[in-house]
Amino acid sequence: MARLISLLVAVLALTPCICLAHSRALQASRVLLDGREVEKEYDYIVVGGGTAGLTVADRLTENGKATVLVVEYGQLSNSPSITTVQGGFSGMSDTQFLYDIQSVPQSNLLNRTIAVLAGKVVGGSSAVNAMMTVRAAAADYDGWGSFFGEGSHWSWNQLLPYFKRALNFAPPDEAVTKLANITYDTNFWGDTSSVYAGWPSFQYPGTTAQMEAFRGMPGAPFVKDSGSGEPGRSYARTGHHDRAISRWNYHLVTGSKVTRIALNGTTATGVAFVPVILAAGGIHSPQVLQLSGIGPRKLLSSANITTIVDLPGVGQNFQDHPMIQASYTYRRFNFRPSPNDLFLNASFAAWSEEVWASNRTGPNSIATGNAAAWLPFPVVSPRAADLSSALASQNNTLYLPPGTDQTVAAGYRAQMLLHAAALNSNHTAFYNLVLTGGPTNGILVDLHPLSRRTVAIDTADPYNREPRVDYRALSNPLDAAIMADLVRFTRRYHLENPLTTSWAAMEMAPGLETQTDEQFAAYLAETLSPSEFHPAGTCAMMPRELGGVVDQQLRVYGVERLRVVDASVFPTLPGGNTCQPVYAVAEKAADLIRYGASKGVEQPC
Ligand SMILES: Cc1cc2nc3c(=O)[nH]c(=O)nc-3n(C[C@H](O)[C@H](O)[C@H](O)COP(=O)(O)OP(=O)(O)OC[C@H]3O[C@@H](n4cnc5c(N)ncnc54)[C@H](O)[C@@H]3O)c2cc1C
Ligand SMILES: *[C@@H]1O[C@H](CO)[C@@H](O)[C@H](O)[C@H]1NC(C)=O
Ligand SMILES: *[C@@H]1O[C@H](CO)[C@@H](O)[C@H](O)[C@H]1NC(C)=O
Ligand SMILES: *[C@@H]1O[C@H](CO)[C@@H](O)[C@H](O)[C@H]1NC(C)=O
Ligand SMILES: *[C@@H]1O[C@H](CO)[C@@H](O)[C@H](O)[C@H]1NC(C)=O
Ligand SMILES: *[C@@H]1O[C@H](CO)[C@@H](O)[C@H](O)[C@H]1NC(C)=O
Ligand SMILES: *[C@@H]1O[C@H](CO)[C@@H](O)[C@H](O)[C@H]1NC(C)=O
Ligand SMILES: *[C@@H]1O[C@H](CO)[C@@H](O)[C@H](O)[C@H]1NC(C)=O
Ligand SMILES: *[C@@H]1O[C@H](CO)[C@@H](O)[C@H](O)[C@H]1NC(C)=O
Repeated sequence: MARLISLLVAVLALTPCICLAHSRALQASRVLLDGREVEKEYDYIVVGGGTAGLTVADRLTENGKATVLVVEYGQLSNSPSITTVQGGFSGMSDTQFLYDIQSVPQSNLLNRTIAVLAGKVVGGSSAVNAMMTVRAAAADYDGWGSFFGEGSHWSWNQLLPYFKRALNFAPPDEAVTKLANITYDTNFWGDTSSVYAGWPSFQYPGTTAQMEAFRGMPGAPFVKDSGSGEPGRSYARTGHHDRAISRWNYHLVTGSKVTRIALNGTTATGVAFVPVILAAGGIHSPQVLQLSGIGPRKLLSSANITTIVDLPGVGQNFQDHPMIQASYTYRRFNFRPSPNDLFLNASFAAWSEEVWASNRTGPNSIATGNAAAWLPFPVVSPRAADLSSALASQNNTLYLPPGTDQTVAAGYRAQMLLHAAALNSNHTAFYNLVLTGGPTNGILVDLHPLSRRTVAIDTADPYNREPRVDYRALSNPLDAAIMADLVRFTRRYHLENPLTTSWAAMEMAPGLETQTDEQFAAYLAETLSPSEFHPAGTCAMMPRELGGVVDQQLRVYGVERLRVVDASVFPTLPGGNTCQPVYAVAEKAADLIRYGASKGVEQPC
């Protein structure tokens, strides 16, 4: 592999203007860890030191040979809001580690704007997320490969080794296993990664009751294994950066924003051939491509950016999990202790602090969403077959932005056919209810939204402004019908379930007056959060004729030596939280880069 190229010649333009790029790079090099300066040559440059970027950089430097520079906009931080577990929400509420982005007003949500959360720190979103670790159903990953037809090397079976490589499984302790009725199967887990996953060392007894009460709902499946957190945040920085930093061949530069990838013709480069690995996340990877002249021609020309590759899918096919409020309060829920005791019972709160401080155990070892239900749509909705055929017979294109490229529309159609099948299948989950273990519950998630959103550079000032994020919430009208059924099921679980009647649940939201699809649509307009902070799909791994941006090797179509390896390549969202799938995809990406599609053959990027 050739060693290459001076950063000072703007291999990556750290700012839009080449001359500024010089000073930015020099300035940034001073904060390079270890006091090392940015070298003149690297084998690979990774844009974004987040979840995927640090994973790939760690793997590529493992052999002690290939040199890698990671360029990250955020800083290294040991702030307690990152390292503290309790609530899991600490990082996400500390704005210094988040981008400051508001979505465009949502026409179907009474013109509300929505905060777009993404991590801006070494570790990326894995440093600020809520630490639920979920893998989603095999069918979701088989769907990814299906877009490429027979012989694709993307499927559940072919991703499973990377799921195993991605996380190091820590089984729950015996007391917790018994109390919470936890089952697991170590065949599905690995023990080599430096990113750890496990259970909290404490469980509220109410959580077990809430889980078990799903046995009162006909057809709700109980599976042996799913997954979840060790005490302390284990994330891409601790699991990958901290390992790689002692290697001579791994460099990280922080506080440096990459605005554009320099191209010579259609090769990612300055004067020679430096492979670039884009890992800026679902919101920023499409932005960087668009600023580099790779994207929908019409958008680029309205920003006066010369189109180098007209790639209509860049920034299209944007997906995220909508969060629906379905809030219940139980008048009689006699499981103690409960999470409310952290506020109501001073001695319980003091004990929690003490065992956390001395042993990293107890309630404070629980992050958000410690337990949740994941159910297929036919179990949830009596009209699953009807909604499935409505989606299949719908003119899906009507629900994309006007003027959407035909290839992108064709890809949307292919995805909607897959979702239509999934709506009537028991092999993937559509319904996700987060369980608290206490007398209030409220977060409900639609795992396979149909509406497709967009991320586009702000043509008024593309280099200096954050991209325009349009969630296009509820733009496919079947989303509202599906979500209505998710709430209706939650209502039945709480109010018509023999195993929950003794809790005397009250529906706080939406309220029993909300009954018809129209009433649900109005409720969703007022309250829906279109994002669970899982941005994906904006540089989709799909065939180019289906609006794809990267091929199965994650190489950007029409460009040499440029790959995307983060959540933006997911063609469709897995039915689960996205961090674990990002790690697995990044592990696979590292092998594709090191060995090529057929293992063992070393190939340039
Ligand atoms: C608040 C929040 C809560 C979440 N909760 C959960 C959860 O509980 N469980 C779960 O599984 N998932 C959760 N997620 C989602 C999950 O963390 C993400 O899907 C995953 O971490 C994304 O990985 P990524 O590599 O695609 O992007 P990121 O990890 O976001 O990495 C992108 C990196 O690129 C950097 N960057 C961006 N643009 C540039 C640029 N131009 N130049 C240089 N650097 C740049 C960013 O600063 C960032 O470090 C949550 C996310 C958030 C934000
Ligand atoms: C939302 O904004 C549009 C465009 O400004 C406007 O036409 C519409 O009436 C607004 N809708 C609401 C509910 O305010
Ligand atoms: C645990 O699960 C088993 C079935 O696998 C069930 O019979 C039992 O009641 C559950 N225990 C508790 C405490 O709910
Ligand atoms: C899915 O499971 C439910 C509940 O067990 C069952 O009623 C339904 O027939 C199943 N549907 C399919 C398509 O298998
Ligand atoms: C661009 O690539 C061409 C052909 O490979 C090469 O001759 C030329 O020197 C390159 N230009 C720059 C500025 O790197
Ligand atoms: C694009 O170029 C035109 C013509 O030179 C100019 O009027 C316009 O302001 C430019 N737009 C941007 C976003 O730079
Ligand atoms: C408060 O917490 C303590 C310590 O966990 C416990 O012994 C006690 O029973 C609790 N009191 C109430 C009223 O629940
Ligand atoms: C911490 O763990 C040790 C060893 O198990 C135990 O002896 C000690 O009591 C624990 N501390 C607290 C505060 O519970
Ligand atoms: C579907 O809608 C698109 C966009 O309005 C339209 O161009 C197309 O003709 C429609 N297709 C069918 C089969 O009606």
